Amino acid sequence: MAEPDEYTFQRYLEAKRTVDDRALHRPTIDRLQAELASRGDGRPVRVLDVGAGTGAMLRRLLDWDVLQGAVDYTGVDAREQAVTTGRHRIEEWAAQHNWGLANEGTRADPFEIDRDGHAVRATLQQGDVFEVIATGEWEPDLIVGCAFLDVVELGEALPRLFGVGADPLVYFPITFDGETIFRPVHDRAIESRMMDAFHATMNEPDRPGGSRTGRRLFDAIPSYGGRLLSAGGSDWVISPEEQEYPADEAYFLHHIIDIVTGAVEEYQPADLDPAQIRQWGQQRHTDVTNAELVYSTHQFDVLAKAWARCHRPESTQASVALSGMLVFSSRNDTASRPLSKGGVASEMSCDCLGEPRLQKFEEKAHIMAWAVGWIRQIGGVQREFYLSVIPPCSKIQYLLLTSE
Ligand SMILES: C[S@@+](CC[C@H](N)C(=O)[O-])C[C@H]1O[C@@H](n2cnc3c(N)ncnc32)[C@H](O)[C@@H]1O
Repeated sequence: MAEPDEYTFQRYLEAKRTVDDRALHRPTIDRLQAELASRGDGRPVRVLDVGAGTGAMLRRLLDWDVLQGAVDYTGVDAREQAVTTGRHRIEEWAAQHNWGLANEGTRADPFEIDRDGHAVRATLQQGDVFEVIATGEWEPDLIVGCAFLDVVELGEALPRLFGVGADPLVYFPITFDGETIFRPVHDRAIESRMMDAFHATMNEPDRPGGSRTGRRLFDAIPSYGGRLLSAGGSDWVISPEEQEYPADEAYFLHHIIDIVTGAVEEYQPADLDPAQIRQWGQQRHTDVTNAELVYSTHQFDVLAKAWARCHRPESTQASVALSGMLVFSSRNDTASRPLSKGGVASEMSCDCLGEPRLQKFEEKAHIMAWAVGWIRQIGGVQREFYLSVIPPCSKIQYLLLTSE
């Protein structure tokens, strides 16, 4: 396939699907399936797909039986075109896979699709996901962010996502991690400078995300209160088979080359002149046209449980009046320090009788920082509580009991 005349992001996302299908870390998918299957509360599985693009993850998770039974899915993406394409794709996919389509899935109304009593409600909506989660009452069982965390600010995104609902599962597959490989190498020095410059563009201070987000997840998830359940590599590898690339992957490669060339051109590295960058791009497009290019990137898939440092009390009779010392540590101040003694915490007294569950609190404290922290009862049996403070509302969102 020769270089296309035009590129669209939605075609790129749809072309990426088969690449992701091969790459996704299967043991992590299996663990996700097992976690969802063990919920056992009979409710539909509620899924929030952040940076959903064309909603490819919904179709994949249904095709692969990871989502079983009734499903309530919402995908949010900033790009209107991706969402519009995604709605068309859901209709086509439903017809191709013998799903009945009861509702066309407009902006306001969810798709209602059904197969053998397996009912799925699906909404794809345009918007900034962080605005959307701040305004709605979201209680997802699962938050999915595929190829998402490396394009947003990790330290802001994770605590906000972890603060949604009641300790959801969080699944972040295809998170980029700092390696991009093009083969064959035509000029070792140019190749190395191109890749260094491309990764450097991702780490520019005015750009969200970063080139090593994948590995950062292993520290960031526990530091924001999550517990890692499964992780593994999900490297993309595209190579020609019998002089052809599968599905629409030749387009995908051209698109990637266009992205790399454009990003490096804009970055203007000191050790590459514009003619060298253009030449690199032309050579790589020719490699694809001749079905000679092999392309790979390094990525991680991670499945975690939000707020997993907190365990729900075993006893349904736990009755707890919070009093004591509020201790918190902010992102910039890792040393825990007391904010107040008695006052703040005792105002937030709660009873936890009956079904142990997440308690929600309105703002009662004067905490105006990114923070995750602990409230610790002093005296008697020590119980620990985990809380998150999510700006801009600086509302204390969740408080969860540990067992004694
Ligand atoms: C690399 S794409 C991945 C799309 C999709 N998850 C997939 O794997 O096919 C990242 C997506 O995140 C979306 N995105 C980035 N920041 C966002 C935000 N704050 N709110 C909503 N969408 C966002 C972009 O519009 C883009 O479609």
